[in-house]
Amino acid sequence: AHPLSVGLAGLGTVGGGTLALLRANAELIAARAGRPITVTAVSARDRGRDRGVPLAGLRWFEDPVALATDPGVDVFVEAIGGADGPARASVEAALAAGKPVVTANKAMLAVHGAAIAAQAEATGAPLLFEAAVAGGIPAIKALREGLAANRITRVAGILNGTCNYILTMMRAEAREFAEALAEAQRLGYAEADPSFDIDGIDAAHKLAILAALAFGRPVDFGSVHVEGIRSVSALDIAFAGELGYRIKLLGIAERTAAGVSARIHPVMIPVTSPLAPVEGVFNAVAFEGDFVGRVLLEGRGAGAGPTASAIVADLIDIARGRHTPPFGMAASLLSAEPAVPITER
Ligand code: HSE
Repeated sequence: AHPLSVGLAGLGTVGGGTLALLRANAELIAARAGRPITVTAVSARDRGRDRGVPLAGLRWFEDPVALATDPGVDVFVEAIGGADGPARASVEAALAAGKPVVTANKAMLAVHGAAIAAQAEATGAPLLFEAAVAGGIPAIKALREGLAANRITRVAGILNGTCNYILTMMRAEAREFAEALAEAQRLGYAEADPSFDIDGIDAAHKLAILAALAFGRPVDFGSVHVEGIRSVSALDIAFAGELGYRIKLLGIAERTAAGVSARIHPVMIPVTSPLAPVEGVFNAVAFEGDFVGRVLLEGRGAGAGPTASAIVADLIDIARGRHTPPFGMAASLLSAEPAVPITER
């Protein structure tokens, strides 16, 4: 069958990992997708940098908007990052051209998701974003597919690999905060601006996306309560340990009488909690549904391999024509309730 031609914008940790995965597992991906999935064109800021992946034979674009609208590109993959700028411009250009988009961009979706999803629905172009939340954990597919029959009452989880890695290293290996952060950056877990990780903003982006899907409402990202881990000291962690607790950065979103409450902050959880053994770069996402009860998913939340795993799963869905409509967050997916701003409780 005709290969699916992918245009890939951004060749950092996420883009590089996507190229590597598509090449390493090309045969099984082609079998599952019903046709080969091939990156044919790329764009990145620095053409000269060695990314550890051969780039010969790929068409290069300076401008990601030109890549996104190129007639030779069947699907546009956005791995640039940032809520606005070239990421948003290229995604909007692809959707305007009716082209399917796969994005890992949680900041863009948290801030502009409802508008971008509305555009996708208007043009009929699929918009898939499994990689935007919790890296390799199929949290979006779980909500949209496996749990689609439930009224979701609560979403909670460890949504930032960098913070979980730092807290783990401070406790288990007596590392300093700065040293653990530098290690997370070296491993490709941290955001370009690591204050997004340690101040809880990245986790808030992911929680906002999950809450929008879980509760079927556009999310007012500005009203999510956000507190990071800067003020957590090694002493806090040690005292909590003596009392039988771990300190974790949690994201929690709940249905309330007033609407939806969403918050990110450090929490002391008992060592017997199912979230306590989730350590290092691992994330966990817990859903509560009215018929299923609690579902807990755990996996690597950051890094090249896990993020690429999620992006390529979306590409396989597109290749098969099996992506789940509605494509975005604009329509009420799991509930038919009117939009209400997220409120703090
Ligand atoms: N910086 C993010 C994290 C990467 O540490 O979880 C995945 O979104």
